[in-house]
Amino acid sequence: MEFEKVLLSRKSCRKFTDKPVEEEKLEKVVVSASLAPLGLPKMCTPVLTVVTDKDALAGLKGIYDAPAVIIVSCPPSPAPGIGDQNAGCVVEMMSLMATSLGLGNIYLYGVTANLQKDEEMLKKLAIPEGYTPLAALALGYGEEDVDICKEFVGKLSVTKI
Ligand SMILES: Cc1cc2nc3c(=O)[nH]c(=O)nc-3n(C[C@H](O)[C@H](O)[C@H](O)COP(=O)(O)O)c2cc1C
Repeated sequence: MEFEKVLLSRKSCRKFTDKPVEEEKLEKVVVSASLAPLGLPKMCTPVLTVVTDKDALAGLKGIYDAPAVIIVSCPPSPAPGIGDQNAGCVVEMMSLMATSLGLGNIYLYGVTANLQKDEEMLKKLAIPEGYTPLAALALGYGEEDVDICKEFVGKLSVTKI
């Protein structure tokens, strides 16, 4: 998909069909994560947990019944906020790749906020000791077609000096 079209069609998906995500597509999404820019990469490189097992998915709260969730976890950061920013870069790269592959997807913080307090799930998902789940991407096939924006319209306030 053309890059501008990818940007214009990325929208949060909260209704997924039961159709599983093909292994090749999941792999491309995972590879896109490794192309993200990272702060302090020697100390603060995130790890990914790809969850497609139905039993494991059932233990995650706030994933909108998506058939796949990729959790991004980071080690403690020596500089405040770097882990969160790295996780954000990684999730956004995956979101754009998923969009370009025709997959519905949504950036999720809530699921990881819950997971951080759930020792049993942290073990079940084999999140490495000392790593904190900071963000996630839920993905699958959306029930509804995405309404593609017709043109670039800025939503953010911008000050030009
Ligand atoms: C850092 C971050 C955390 C988010 N966490 C959640 C979440 O936990 N649950 C949820 O339903 N949506 C979550 N979202 C999705 C936002 O609600 C969504 O991106 C926003 O409403 C804009 O809609 P759009 O993505 O369709 O443009 C999150 C988005 C970001 C960037």
